[in-house]
Amino acid sequence: MMDMPGLAIKIRRMELRDIERVMEIDRQSFSLTWPDRSYIFELTKNGNSRIWLAEIADPEPFLKVIGVLGVWVIVDEAHISTVAVDPAYRQLKVASQLLEYALKMAGEEGAAVARLEVRASNFPAIRMYENFGFKVVNRRPRYYSDNNEDALLMDLDMVAAGYTRLAENPS
Ligand SMILES: CC(C)(COP(=O)(O)OP(=O)(O)OC[C@H]1O[C@@H](n2cnc3c(N)ncnc32)[C@H](O)[C@@H]1OP(=O)(O)O)[C@@H](O)C(=O)NCCC(=O)NCCS
Repeated sequence: MMDMPGLAIKIRRMELRDIERVMEIDRQSFSLTWPDRSYIFELTKNGNSRIWLAEIADPEPFLKVIGVLGVWVIVDEAHISTVAVDPAYRQLKVASQLLEYALKMAGEEGAAVARLEVRASNFPAIRMYENFGFKVVNRRPRYYSDNNEDALLMDLDMVAAGYTRLAENPS
């Protein structure tokens, strides 16, 4: 995506030691949150799961996790499972940098389409996904159990968007 620079962050894979902090960001970000056992499963058992964290030095030299983005890479599909940024660090392109990085990495693994569900009322998130080229392809009525809100299904053609490294022609 163009115009990416924002807050200077470091991106790394989530580890078990990060669960407490990530759940704190989740609580500040979602009405429905994953329990710690879900993170333990994602980190230790789910070989398709990649969870990326954004970190900053705050206060120097201590590193602080301020954003999280999860993706399941299943054959040619990259399914975005979660995205959240600490409210104190929003609108600084933290989620955009995480998404850009996660899409590149999934593209290198062979993903050709990225897919996600988002609450129909979540305008900031929908706008961010549209900035990346995601398009609404379907609507799932009453998908979210806490308020019966609809989910929008959004897809991105990762090949057209340049994230997928096409296999070398062997000839
Ligand atoms: C959605 C969320 C992850 C965005 O994180 P972020 O780091 O603030 O996002 P970015 O700074 O990368 O914003 C990228 C784009 O998203 C859109 N956007 C983000 N926040 C917005 C807001 N409050 N209002 C309008 N548009 C917004 C803008 O188009 C923005 O691009 P711009 O800065 O060029 O205008 C964050 O708001 C969040 O954690 N929300 C709660 C959890 C959530 O809804 N997750 C998504 C579930 S599908």
